[in-house]
Amino acid sequence: MMMSVRLCVALAVLAVANGVPPKASDVGWVVLNSGVNLPVVGLGTWQVTDDRELEQALDAALEAGYRHIDTATIYRNEHLIGKVLKRWLSEGKVKREELFITTKLPVYGMRPADVPYFLNESLTKLQLDYVDMYLIHMPFAVKREAYNNGRIDANGTDLTTDHLAIWKAMVAEKEAGRAKALGVSNFNETQIERIIKNSPVPPANLQVELHLYHQQKPLIRFCRKNNIAVTAYSPIGSPGSKWLTLLSGKELPDLLNQPDVKAIAQKHNKTPAQVLLRHTVQWGVAVIPKSSNPKRIRENIDIFDFSLDGKDVATLDALDKGLDGQLFDMKHIGGSESHPEYPWTALLDKPVA
Ligand SMILES: NC(=O)c1ccc[n+]([C@@H]2O[C@H](COP(=O)([O-])OP(=O)(O)OC[C@H]3O[C@@H](n4cnc5c(N)ncnc54)[C@H](OP(=O)(O)O)[C@@H]3O)[C@@H](O)[C@H]2O)c1
Repeated sequence: MMMSVRLCVALAVLAVANGVPPKASDVGWVVLNSGVNLPVVGLGTWQVTDDRELEQALDAALEAGYRHIDTATIYRNEHLIGKVLKRWLSEGKVKREELFITTKLPVYGMRPADVPYFLNESLTKLQLDYVDMYLIHMPFAVKREAYNNGRIDANGTDLTTDHLAIWKAMVAEKEAGRAKALGVSNFNETQIERIIKNSPVPPANLQVELHLYHQQKPLIRFCRKNNIAVTAYSPIGSPGSKWLTLLSGKELPDLLNQPDVKAIAQKHNKTPAQVLLRHTVQWGVAVIPKSSNPKRIRENIDIFDFSLDGKDVATLDALDKGLDGQLFDMKHIGGSESHPEYPWTALLDKPVA
């Protein structure tokens, strides 16, 4: 059977002349099961809420050929993204159909009636009629008042979460044309399978933490089998999230200085970040690196003029630490771990395939 999740990076590699930064048309994409093209490199925007910083980053990204932008209600920056997109669209520098904008239903909006409410709010802020992808951000839920008050503890958790009812509300938004494709984030296989078995519209995309030390190979295989595209968040290992160490005691990995990554980068005359991103992309996975630095923004999309060989891939594949390499177990969202839909409990007992 011909799979509709196909990676078109090879075409992009052929299309790009050596050393020349990619044009938007040269960037590879993944064809989603909904028939929409997901550009394989997108700009992450989490933890950027400063007006000027985000505007500069978006301008640099759009100029460098990015057409895929990842945001979420909880990033509190959709209004800034909307402002920049409106300028680019009204100046005719980009067409709406060339853009791929993803946003997400918040963890405190996990009831069916919340779906139209929060999607409308996102569309208003983004100044768009539709988003290209609407994701359920987390499988568990937090009561809105608890999130707003900043006291998210076990009592703030909303235990009534019904994924199928929420998904039905998501499908209604797709049918109404307000979301071109639907997906989930931070869901495990069981949770995705439940949706597939009970809805005529399967998720088109799974967005999960995925990087050198947490490569998610079993989950990628599961998604491939089910025709679901995977997007890697924190593909560089989120080096800016220093707060994580304070909150969880987890050490942030220094993937950019990992000796094998550095050696492979030197061999190809590319940077460690480019090797990390290329490794993930060669697995057929989209990446959404965040950067506010124009030079690094350009660097992160300039990954289509080289290819990792079998030996490079084997070396990098072998560095996977499985669940031990996970950074974001979301336990900083108080009570998440005791929620019935906390996604990673079962995995602790499951051998890595
Ligand atoms: N669905 C979810 O639950 C979820 C969770 C986390 C993240 N996300 C999404 O995924 C995106 C990416 O993840 P992330 O922000 O956690 O981490 P990331 O993209 O792995 O790393 C971002 C950090 O790397 C630095 N950086 C970027 N490019 C670099 C380069 N070429 N060389 C050296 N350093 C570089 C950035 O600093 P500078 O800005 O200074 O360049 C920033 O500190 C987020 O922004 C968000 O859109 C989704």
